[in-house]
Amino acid sequence: MKKVLLATEKPFSKRAVEQINAIAIEAGYEMTLLEKYSDKSQLLQAVADKDAIIIRSDIIDKEVFDAAKNLKIVVRAGAGYDNIDLAAATAHHVVAMNTPGQNSNAVAELAIGMMIYEARHHFDGKSGSELMGKSIGIHAYGNVGKRVATLAKAFGMDVYAYDPYVSRESIEADGVTCVASLEDLYRKSNYISLHIPATSETKLSINAALLSQMLVPATLVNTARKEVINEADLLKIFEIRPDFVYITDIEPGCAQELEEKYGNRYLHTAKKMGAQTEEANVNAGLAAIRQVINFFEYNDTHFQVNK
Ligand code: 3PG
Repeated sequence: MKKVLLATEKPFSKRAVEQINAIAIEAGYEMTLLEKYSDKSQLLQAVADKDAIIIRSDIIDKEVFDAAKNLKIVVRAGAGYDNIDLAAATAHHVVAMNTPGQNSNAVAELAIGMMIYEARHHFDGKSGSELMGKSIGIHAYGNVGKRVATLAKAFGMDVYAYDPYVSRESIEADGVTCVASLEDLYRKSNYISLHIPATSETKLSINAALLSQMLVPATLVNTARKEVINEADLLKIFEIRPDFVYITDIEPGCAQELEEKYGNRYLHTAKKMGAQTEEANVNAGLAAIRQVINFFEYNDTHFQVNK
């Protein structure tokens, strides 16, 4: 009997866990749940005899692979897989997968929700501003970026996008203006919504040179990763641009300084919660367990990311 560990420091909803469990049992697999663990040793112990792990943003590094002697597959129930050491996975002959697109609507709705919440001064009674008529630049047009673009259009925003990996035709087919360079995207936008993964290319890439070009007033929306932001430059921009606002789903290292100096122009969520809806948990969780089963039963490696 194959043994699957669902290891989620930030738990899925109860309904998602029940459904993942039901699919595993139906396939004749044994499922173990490790939620809200506070110490890595709990994860190391739990993976020791498992054939598969399903995770969220949980860190799966060499130490975890070393401890997981029977492991054949790890599925990140979500989009970004920067939390998995892919080289270590390959070295241990473990297939790593993600579940692209499954939580993208949840993340897109949070991006728009945070924009409205900030534009209306956290609903404190003061006069705010509207999204209609403002411009938004979608920085990377993957599943989440595409969904933010659709929602932003429905709000009457002017929507621009930049993504060197997506064709102009497919962006413009959505009624979104495709721009030729990143600089151009920032120059045209009141809002920038980040949808880039954290890679060696993108880390620290959101810098003063880009942010200083944004239209007045400017709001940077980050539902992607904190590592992509150059925080020293971010602080510089806050200092020189009184119109600049930063709203993020991932608490930055400089959160305390931002809160103390620019509290009304800065907002972060209590915990990364873009994908934290029952629907996204069900979509990503069920995709993950199905991918595990299809891998063992049919050798299906469709969503493998460590090729
Ligand atoms: C993702 O990459 O899918 C999102 O960042 C969601 O991450 P989470 O599962 O930790 O909420």
